[in-house]
Amino acid sequence: MNRKYRKTLIAGNWKMNKTPSETKAFMSELKGLLPKGRWCDIALCVPAVCIPAAVRAMRETRVGIGAENCNANPSGAYTGEISTSMLTDAGCKYVIVGHSERRAMGETDADVNAKALAALDAGLVPIICCGESLEQREAGITEEWITMQIKLALAGISEDKIRKIVIAYEPIWAIGTGRTATPEQAEEVCQHIRVVVRKLFGSKNARATTILYGGSMNEKNAYELLAQPDIDGGLIGGASLVPSKFVKIIEDANQPTA
Ligand code: 13P
Repeated sequence: MNRKYRKTLIAGNWKMNKTPSETKAFMSELKGLLPKGRWCDIALCVPAVCIPAAVRAMRETRVGIGAENCNANPSGAYTGEISTSMLTDAGCKYVIVGHSERRAMGETDADVNAKALAALDAGLVPIICCGESLEQREAGITEEWITMQIKLALAGISEDKIRKIVIAYEPIWAIGTGRTATPEQAEEVCQHIRVVVRKLFGSKNARATTILYGGSMNEKNAYELLAQPDIDGGLIGGASLVPSKFVKIIEDANQPTA
C-alpha cells in the first residue's frame, strides 16, 4: 500500500453466494464489527438480487456496494442482462468486470473494455480483473499476458477517467484454491501493471491507480500481501462471506505504512 498517493480498497466478491435474506443478516453483523479507522475504502460486490438489501443495510456506512458484472449496452433486447444505469439507480458504486470466472464463460477482452467504458460513463468504479493461468505462468509469459489484458481493457479510456478505475490482479491458479501467490509474486505482477499504466497514462496517473491482489487472500495472509508497495488492497472471494474474516482483512489494511 502507499496511502500517500492512492486509495486502499478492500473489496469482497461474493460470487454466486447468499440470498437477499442472508445478505441482510450478513450486513447487520458486519456493521457491528466494522473498525472505526477510516484508512481504506470498503466494497462488497454481491449477486444482483442482493443489491437492494445490501444498499439499504449499508446506507449510513462507508461500505460501497457493487455488482459482479454488467452489460455494456445502455438498454434493449438482452434477456437476463443488467445495464450500468440500472446498477447506479439501484445504489451501486462499483462493478467487477473481466473476472476470470466470467472470461471462462466467454467474456472477451473486447467485452471487458466495453464494460469498463460503460461503467465509467455511468459513474461506476470498474474493478477490472486480469490474471494468468498456471500454464501461462509456467511458460514464462505472465508479464506479456497481463500487459495484453490491461492494454485491451483500458483502450479508449480518457485521461480524466483513468483515476476512477481499480485494477485487480487475480492469478487464476490462486482463485479458490487456497494456493495464494507469495507476497513477492503478487508484488512483481502488481508493479508490472503499474508500469503498463504508466506507459499508457503517465507516471502521475500510474502512481494514483489502486491495484488489488485477489486469489485466496484471507485473514491470515492479508497483512503480508498488503505490506507490499504496489498492492493497494484485495479482491476477496471466500473470506468475504464471513464478517469476522472480512473485518480482520480491513483491520490489516488499516496498518500504519510509509
Ligand atoms: P477467493 O478469495 O475465494 O480465492 O476468490 C478470489 C476471487 O476470485 C475474487 O474475485
